[in-house]
Amino acid sequence: MQYRTAIHRLYSKASHITTPIFYPNAKPHIGHLYSSLLCDVHHRWQLLKENQSFFTTGTDEHGLKIQLASESNGFDQPKKFVDKLYMDFVHLDKIFDINYTRFIRTTDPDHIENVKELWQLCLKNGFIYKGEHKGWYSISDETFYPESKVVKDPSHDGKYLNTESNNEVIYQSETNYFFRLSLFRERLISHIKQHPHFIFPVTKREQILQELETTENLLDLSISRPSTRLKWGISTPNDPSQKVYVWFDALCNYLSSIGGISSILNNTAEVVSKHYNAGSNVEMQLTIPHPKEVWQTTIHVIGKDIAKFHTIYWPSFLLAAGLPLPKQVVIHGHWLCNGVKMSKSLGNVVDPVDMASYYGSDIVRWFLLENSKLEEDGDFQEQRLSETRELLVSKWGNLVNRCCGSKFDVERAVTKFSNKGHLQLQEVFQNEPEISQQIKSHIKLLNETKDVFEEKITLFQYSQLLKHVWGIINDANTLVQNGKPWEREVDQQDAIIFLSMETSRILTILCQPIMPALSQSLLDRIDVLEERRTITFIELGSDEAYGKYSNKRGREVPLKRIPYRLSE
Ligand code: ME8
Ligand code: MG
Repeated sequence: MQYRTAIHRLYSKASHITTPIFYPNAKPHIGHLYSSLLCDVHHRWQLLKENQSFFTTGTDEHGLKIQLASESNGFDQPKKFVDKLYMDFVHLDKIFDINYTRFIRTTDPDHIENVKELWQLCLKNGFIYKGEHKGWYSISDETFYPESKVVKDPSHDGKYLNTESNNEVIYQSETNYFFRLSLFRERLISHIKQHPHFIFPVTKREQILQELETTENLLDLSISRPSTRLKWGISTPNDPSQKVYVWFDALCNYLSSIGGISSILNNTAEVVSKHYNAGSNVEMQLTIPHPKEVWQTTIHVIGKDIAKFHTIYWPSFLLAAGLPLPKQVVIHGHWLCNGVKMSKSLGNVVDPVDMASYYGSDIVRWFLLENSKLEEDGDFQEQRLSETRELLVSKWGNLVNRCCGSKFDVERAVTKFSNKGHLQLQEVFQNEPEISQQIKSHIKLLNETKDVFEEKITLFQYSQLLKHVWGIINDANTLVQNGKPWEREVDQQDAIIFLSMETSRILTILCQPIMPALSQSLLDRIDVLEERRTITFIELGSDEAYGKYSNKRGREVPLKRIPYRLSE
């Protein structure tokens, strides 16, 4: 087994998935968690299939926004401010079992080197020049907006807003370095056309393509700020009077976190990257085979607010530097709370840590995945979260609890009907066509399940995936209901118990990427050996040695009911 895994690793390509790196200027909310969760499930699914996978996330720590937040929170140095606040993101990941391979901070020394390298490459290739810049800047979005998107703020005299994000803009005029974005329009269009999956989902791809095709000219982009104004940032190479624009800095994290630019340019066979483990001063070593190949598998998962930066600016920077492009940018909608945009001023920002401490982190994970589609905004309602938990207890929990009752014997059923057993399920119901038929169709559902997982995870269609899972759980419960194992002779009873337990065992193995902690307790409850929780064991009957003590009295219930905490 171990030998096979090693060989498999050698030949299977490593892949890479990323979240945006978040601004540590306020506490994380369920929106941040959501991006991380989409990546985590994808990454864990690769690991379950015994493929090598890298998953990187982190914090975006430079820029005006952070500089100002640090000042207004009374810090004398922004570094002290981010050192404190980035821990909230590390903590969130820990609570929710977000299993990243590297948590990168833009203040990490190896990242800073990479930003300078990216700049030098763009400069050397003739895509950076110095010029005068005038325009409307939003500190909150860290971006300029064109005159056409600026309006007077109706509620504040003398203030201006942009119509894209509705955040305040201020007029700035200064010397900046510019990036020749205008030269990339045609190349971007042709890349998007030749790689139909580069921007996903299709609705977003079409929207961006149309934007590119209808703009007369893409304006060159200001990629530095005077150091007098932006104090907190990376100095531009050879010119300390300017600091690198925070988005140029931030986007580069995707390269820094998987071995760095030079290893991609030189097509290095293997890189050992060293960095400090998030939240500690423990040095970590990350070995990345063929960074250039890994980079071409990279999937960026982002929210719709930052699509422009990832589908227009980022590919242009890469092309300018002579670097290959990542595989895909996956764009998701935003989470609202009870139909309203979350905001500090409304006080309706959902705190995921609080939700996890009451309902359990895996219930929140399940809820977020079940109630969202990439193309649409999700609506967080605690009432529905509570119902999700209730359903998991009453359907999945109950299926396991029933079969583990003292009237039945899971171990005996498994020994009898597994691949190494001596009886076939069909044989014992020869004279009952209805039950036989039900069993047959249930087995068919189970056999299709791995492919459904593969497809739905690849397409980020989690609500559809979980619908399929519920279908199987319900079908298994119906089988127990109709089959009445408690009234049957021993072989027939064991057949129904076997199939129900197999349903739970197989689904739980497959659902590990979705609910890592809960699946562990479910598998523990039916005594599945640690090493038999991999994709090798998802065939019906493939594990002949579980369930040994499952029917013993007094064992822990994996999913307990909790009191209702919402007021009527
Ligand atoms: O933009 N619903 O950081 P940020 C869903 N540092 N997702 C949401 C969300 C919501 N309501 N709110 C935020 C930045 N997100 C830059 C990124 S990347 C090189 C630099 C998620 O802290 C979503 O992924 O403002 C969104 O794109 C991201 O957080 C913005 O996080
Ligand atoms: Mg933002």
